[in-house]
Amino acid sequence: EKGGWSSFMRKEVAEQPEAVQKTILGRAVDGKVVIPELEAFGDDRLRDIHRITVVACGTASYAGLVAKYAIEQWARIPVEVELSHEFRYREPVLDEHTLVVSISQSGETMDTLMAVKYAREQGAKAISICNTQGATIPRESDAVVYTHAGPEVAVASTKAFVAQITALYLFGLHLARVRGTLDDAALAENLAELQAIPEKLEAVLGESDGVAQLAHWMADTRSVLFLGRHVGYPIALEGALKLKELAYIHAEGFAAGELKHGPIALIEPGQPVFVVVPSPRGSQNLHPKVVSNIQEIRARGARVIAIAEEGDAAVLPFADEVVRIPLAAPLFEPLLAVVPLQVFAMELAEAKGLDVDQPRNLAKSVTVE
Ligand code: M6R
Repeated sequence: EKGGWSSFMRKEVAEQPEAVQKTILGRAVDGKVVIPELEAFGDDRLRDIHRITVVACGTASYAGLVAKYAIEQWARIPVEVELSHEFRYREPVLDEHTLVVSISQSGETMDTLMAVKYAREQGAKAISICNTQGATIPRESDAVVYTHAGPEVAVASTKAFVAQITALYLFGLHLARVRGTLDDAALAENLAELQAIPEKLEAVLGESDGVAQLAHWMADTRSVLFLGRHVGYPIALEGALKLKELAYIHAEGFAAGELKHGPIALIEPGQPVFVVVPSPRGSQNLHPKVVSNIQEIRARGARVIAIAEEGDAAVLPFADEVVRIPLAAPLFEPLLAVVPLQVFAMELAEAKGLDVDQPRNLAKSVTVE
């Protein structure tokens, strides 16, 4: 079943361009998003929503955090992202104008399932983003938008993550059209950005050797930090989770803006820090802020590995290593920037002789509380 690959994870990392492409397939028509599965749910109900609460666990919750930025920007609806196991124990405020969007690769995660059931009992509507046809969570929801990543066998989620972001972006563009918050030109432009991702992912995968080499050099590392900002922040969290679960290395992801509020105290000479650098072309002008974060940690001896877009020269004087990703509109960068972090964790785990498909203590789907 591994089809010549040394592990399922390696195979699934390589399948990411296809996972994105198949998730878009049939849902992009003449520059517009069409999601047939949402027809029965109805556009009127989508217009009637006042806010969205995303419920998910682990990597799926980070896909939700990425999508929060895009959906709020495009559809102008407040989006909150909650870990499923926290959500249902805090008496969340819900009503018929709340849309709960669950995200689950397996569709069987107990906490997410219970969160969906609870939300519907309180009168909220529920849409699920799921990779497994006919799973329990979609059956318990009002509608489902499937990700078409194909079966994900390795415990560490990779291709399901990029497919989840893809499905959520399609959903966000659909919402923006229904609610009239983006015009046709903006819808078509964003959809074209999404459709260009598979080819760019191929390019990122083709450049993985440098990251693999870095991971092998760093096989003895005991702690790695990850920084990101805006959509790069959830990617920092995801990079840290991958490293923990695959290589059993202590890792933390931080929002770069938090550095001065505590985490910078962790920086000592030799501390490796991955920094997901926002595009210098972004409208919010976050790039110089993150470059100055890099300078601050470098001055304290950090070993900086920057994930930066092609042509971004500002990082060169301060980063020890630069991993390049192709140009993409800022909201779409997470789909590319996550790949070197997945590869880094996988290669480092392999360098330590660990089983990347079945890390210790973990199950592919967590069907108990
Ligand atoms: O099947 P689900 O998407 O609901 O699973 C959620 C998490 O258990 C899962 O993403 C987990 O964090 C992965 N092992 C991360 O690689």
